Amino acid sequence: MAIKIATEKTIREAAALIKEGGLVVFPTETVYGLGANALDGQAVARIFEAKGRPQFNPLIIHVCDEAAAAELVVMNEQARLVSSRFWPGPLTMILPRRDDCPVSDLCSAGLPTLAVRVPAHPVACALLKAAGMPVAAPSANKSGTLSATTPVDVSGTLGDAVDMILAAGSCPVGLESTVLDLSGGVPLVLRPGAVTAAEISAVLGEEVSYDRGDHEKPKSPGQLLRHYAPSIPLRLNAIDLEPGEALLAFGSDRFMGIKGGGSAKDLPESARENLSESGDLNEAAANLFAMLHALDQSDHKAIAVMNIPDQGLGIAINDRLSRAAD
Ligand code: TXA
Ligand code: MG
Repeated sequence: MAIKIATEKTIREAAALIKEGGLVVFPTETVYGLGANALDGQAVARIFEAKGRPQFNPLIIHVCDEAAAAELVVMNEQARLVSSRFWPGPLTMILPRRDDCPVSDLCSAGLPTLAVRVPAHPVACALLKAAGMPVAAPSANKSGTLSATTPVDVSGTLGDAVDMILAAGSCPVGLESTVLDLSGGVPLVLRPGAVTAAEISAVLGEEVSYDRGDHEKPKSPGQLLRHYAPSIPLRLNAIDLEPGEALLAFGSDRFMGIKGGGSAKDLPESARENLSESGDLNEAAANLFAMLHALDQSDHKAIAVMNIPDQGLGIAINDRLSRAAD
């Protein structure tokens, strides 16, 4: 892993790495971000691997301006007011994904919403322009450790897991961005940051409250960080298929039989997906949410999921599958 001072040349190198599916740590005005091409599910899967995160939490998508955000999410009236006042800057908005949103489902962990932000740091802006694509980036630290605000902190925590660290001194804000949920009608701050609820209230002309609570526990509809769950049952660690079930395979499904006769290869294409035929956990993570969505059709009785090894990214995949199976 190389620490490089940000210059026009190294920013171009970093943009090329991102286009190729690499991981680049870059400065923003809040904290350093661990960035990857948001359109490339396998690159995004590497973020979770590098952070050692046992769960797929949804990531913030960084874009260079409001027009680029509008290609990904539905910018409602509230969103336009907030973006014209606070972007570029330390504010993230949660908005509905557009139907034609090209961002990998892994970035939003299968949810119908996406977190977007236009950072104000000149190096981040130059990188996003040079890359010419949305960049998914959580804070550049190992899961469960403090966010990094200097290049030295980053290299201490992420070490060799990244392809390049683009260094530009310490981050001026030093605190993660405010996360504002505008997807549910009622504006809600999910994470406090430099932009306060009072400032947002003034722009929107309506009350905006903090919700620091437990997002797992529903308060009122639209106010919780939901987990994606399919509408039909999931059956985990399947070693064969019940008639009427769809198959989510991992590795070879050559010997998957259907009870009462037949085998997986007799299933129609719409009832059969494979997370990774070669048994690659990174590829499986990249495919997980899109394939669950594809199989989640009411004409299937359930989705039978083959065993996925509980190691590396497999831990996060199994975490998400067992939540979806509940
Ligand atoms: O300042 C920042 O926001 C930094 C820099 C790099 O931009 N990024 C950052 O990302 O702090 P991360 O992944 O550490 O935090 C993202 C936060 C999490 O609390 C996550 O749950 C929330 O945003 N989030 C992302 N997508 C969401 C969604 N669709 N719905 C609800 N919350 C979401
Ligand atoms: Mg973080």
